[in-house]
Amino acid sequence: MDTVVELLKDEMSAVEGQIKTNLSSDVQLVSQVGEYILSSGGKRIRPMLLLLSARLCNYQGEKHVELASVVEFIHTATLLHDDVVDSADLRRGNRSANSVWGNQASVLVGDFLFAKSFSVMVNSESLKILKILSDTTTQLAEGEILQLINTCDLEVDEPRYLQVVRDKTAILIAAACQVGGVLAGVDEQKELALREFGLEIGIAFQLMDDALDYVADEADFGKERGHDLYEGKMTLPLICAFAKSSAEEKEEISRIVEAEELSTEDLDYICELIDRHGGIDYTRQRAADRIELAKRQLELFPDCEAKQALFDLADYVVTRNK
Ligand code: IPE
Ligand code: IPE
Ligand code: MG
Ligand code: MG
Repeated sequence: MDTVVELLKDEMSAVEGQIKTNLSSDVQLVSQVGEYILSSGGKRIRPMLLLLSARLCNYQGEKHVELASVVEFIHTATLLHDDVVDSADLRRGNRSANSVWGNQASVLVGDFLFAKSFSVMVNSESLKILKILSDTTTQLAEGEILQLINTCDLEVDEPRYLQVVRDKTAILIAAACQVGGVLAGVDEQKELALREFGLEIGIAFQLMDDALDYVADEADFGKERGHDLYEGKMTLPLICAFAKSSAEEKEEISRIVEAEELSTEDLDYICELIDRHGGIDYTRQRAADRIELAKRQLELFPDCEAKQALFDLADYVVTRNK
């Protein structure tokens, strides 16, 4: 990962400058909340993927910097809204914006980021890119809504879970990669290969996030451990454990998932069950399979520095602890 960061150093510092420019507003609360969340140490995976995809396709222009800031803005807007919906207190190791400024400010600044990302993406003067990113934003919203519908539903199985993962997370990562290719004007086959690459690593990314939600060190992960269970989210480690559980265990899981509060004993019980039924290993393995599939999508591109960096980023998705 360090080599990827080094390779993109100059372009990413231009992206950071663009992010600051996009944040300027006469309304002080907008820049205050916006700067708080945007300078709090996000990994910037999505802009890096867009820049690397553009580089892989020999893009020579300047528009990739603005568009990289756009994908980070869309991502940040969804985080602001997501933390309200998930009642999350921690984000990137700091208090979440909703816990500092309240739900109303978080929702409204999230709206500002969405709106701003659209006005910046218009500068690309590409109707195609506009369509990709606006369809993406629509699908993101659908993913979060679908997840809401699935809350506390123990009948959610792997295919239903994967649909949420695809919509709420993978689609934006897929779009970031695709836009890099579209900017460079590559043929449809290459454009779709980049999209598929992004989709697979996006799925792996959320699978790992859901595994880490149960096992990560809070200090590294920067988010509260067990929060998905607390919110009644049916994620793959639990779906896997539930499927292998006895009738008695299933009843206990159901009680815990539906409970208003989550005690330490309940979290420990579920973690032990997930461990015994191999829920984390299963999730990690499914993520690793996706990474393999992702890499195969790039076979039609020649080996080069950018391709190697995309592979490194793909590997990072399944080895990360934050
Ligand atoms: C968090 O995304 C939300 C998910 C899709 C799991 P990231 O893990 O990319 O968040 P930051 O931007 O690096 O904090
Ligand atoms: C991803 O889901 C959220 C978005 C795509 C907005 P999560 O709810 O798992 O993300 P975290 O764990 O809060 O970052
Ligand atoms: Mg969340
Ligand atoms: Mg999560």
